[in-house]
Amino acid sequence: MYQLNYRSTSSIGLGYNDLEDILNTAITVNSEKNISGCLIYHNDNFVQILEGNKKDVLQVYEKIKVDKRHHTVTLLWENEVPNRFFPEWNMAFYRPDDKNVQQFVSNLLLLSQFSDRSSGSLLSFWATVQRILREGMVSQYQKV
Ligand SMILES: Cc1cc2nc3c(=O)[nH]c(=O)nc-3n(C[C@H](O)[C@H](O)[C@H](O)COP(=O)(O)O)c2cc1C
Repeated sequence: MYQLNYRSTSSIGLGYNDLEDILNTAITVNSEKNISGCLIYHNDNFVQILEGNKKDVLQVYEKIKVDKRHHTVTLLWENEVPNRFFPEWNMAFYRPDDKNVQQFVSNLLLLSQFSDRSSGSLLSFWATVQRILREGMVSQYQKV
């Protein structure tokens, strides 16, 4: 199982319809390729985790990287992992509205600007997001 994690900044003027389009495409393509993951949108930033077969994940990432709806796509972490973090979702979408969670996402974005970011903190970040999603504190999501 291959996991890839990046952050990016949304293009100016990105609206609700664009987000909906992105998510619809993501869910369709990812379900065909058996890719799962989570997309977070906060303060004009995206953070996304993609997981699945390495070839498929990299293929999708190549498309995402050149997508004009965002820019400054920065790879945070990629690795082989024993298990999926988001097995239930082809692409969960999470836009944190809770102040604590917003702070938490901001901290991750801050952390990801440093080159010595550790995979441990990213993994614990996604573990927390996974718990939030499982507890149902999710604004919009798609189950497989
Ligand atoms: C932030 C963001 C996240 C995206 N996530 C995915 C995704 O998980 N899976 C996917 O297939 N496309 C995703 N896309 C869309 C791809 O960039 C691309 O539009 C899509 O794969 C269709 O490409 P095609 O028309 O060349 O086949 C995302 C785009 C953005 C901007």
